[in-house]
Amino acid sequence: MLEIKKLEVGYGAISALHGISLSVPAGSIVTLIGSNGAGKTTTLKTVSGLLKPKSGEIFYDGKNISGLPPHEIVARGLSHVPEGRMIFANLTVLENLSMGAYLVCDKKIIQRELQFVFATFPRLKEREKQIAGTLSGGEQQMLAIGRALMSQPKFLMLDEPSLGLAPLLVKTIFEKIVEINRERGLTILLVEQNANRALEISHFGYVLETGKITLSGNSASLRQNSQVKSAYLGGS
Ligand SMILES: Nc1ncnc2c1ncn2[C@@H]1O[C@H](COP(=O)(O)OP(=O)(O)O)[C@@H](O)[C@H]1O
Ligand SMILES: [Mg+2]
Repeated sequence: MLEIKKLEVGYGAISALHGISLSVPAGSIVTLIGSNGAGKTTTLKTVSGLLKPKSGEIFYDGKNISGLPPHEIVARGLSHVPEGRMIFANLTVLENLSMGAYLVCDKKIIQRELQFVFATFPRLKEREKQIAGTLSGGEQQMLAIGRALMSQPKFLMLDEPSLGLAPLLVKTIFEKIVEINRERGLTILLVEQNANRALEISHFGYVLETGKITLSGNSASLRQNSQVKSAYLGGS
């Protein structure tokens, strides 16, 4: 479904991605793990059209989407939940969700998507009139995912959804990701520093180190890999 080929991205003269290649098959959860500064966010921003690649290609459903503007990429069914959530703190939960559907004109479809988001995250329904900035971290993450779902994506990119959350909420968020994948058939590219959990719920994984893919494979085998264990799984 998504195929990244020899992608090179930089900030000015500084190169952040040195020709990475990866693929995300339709219906799967693929995780990209790596420590701080490895280039995970840069990868997602480039797929979303927020950064322009220096070279390389990004194919989505067989079509080259590299260099397209972000709104055209959203319109093709790719949606990005950014690092740090980036919700509109002064708007209500409902207003934030409506913003996610800005490309959808049909009110019936918007209502249907909203009901789906509320079914997935009942907490958001309870708090639909609450100002988003006053939500807890976990609720804000649910809102950020819910907002992304409002654009009716087929492909969802999540940038460190567990960052800064208490362990119990991390568990909930990861369960929801699995639910969205299984019940909605959404293909998911999950970026995480929490390698253990990410490899637990994903089908395939890639390890990114300073802009290069150093390891890849099915997630179960990566969890057994001694390099992955010592670098990302706390030696456990
Ligand atoms: N706006 C920017 N300007 C210059 N360098 C940046 C910018 N954003 C990220 N970088 C650099 O690019 C590299 C990859 O960053 P990033 O993709 O954010 O990593 P990760 O998400 O894996 O923590 C880092 O060396 C970082 O310092
Ligand atoms: Mg990042």
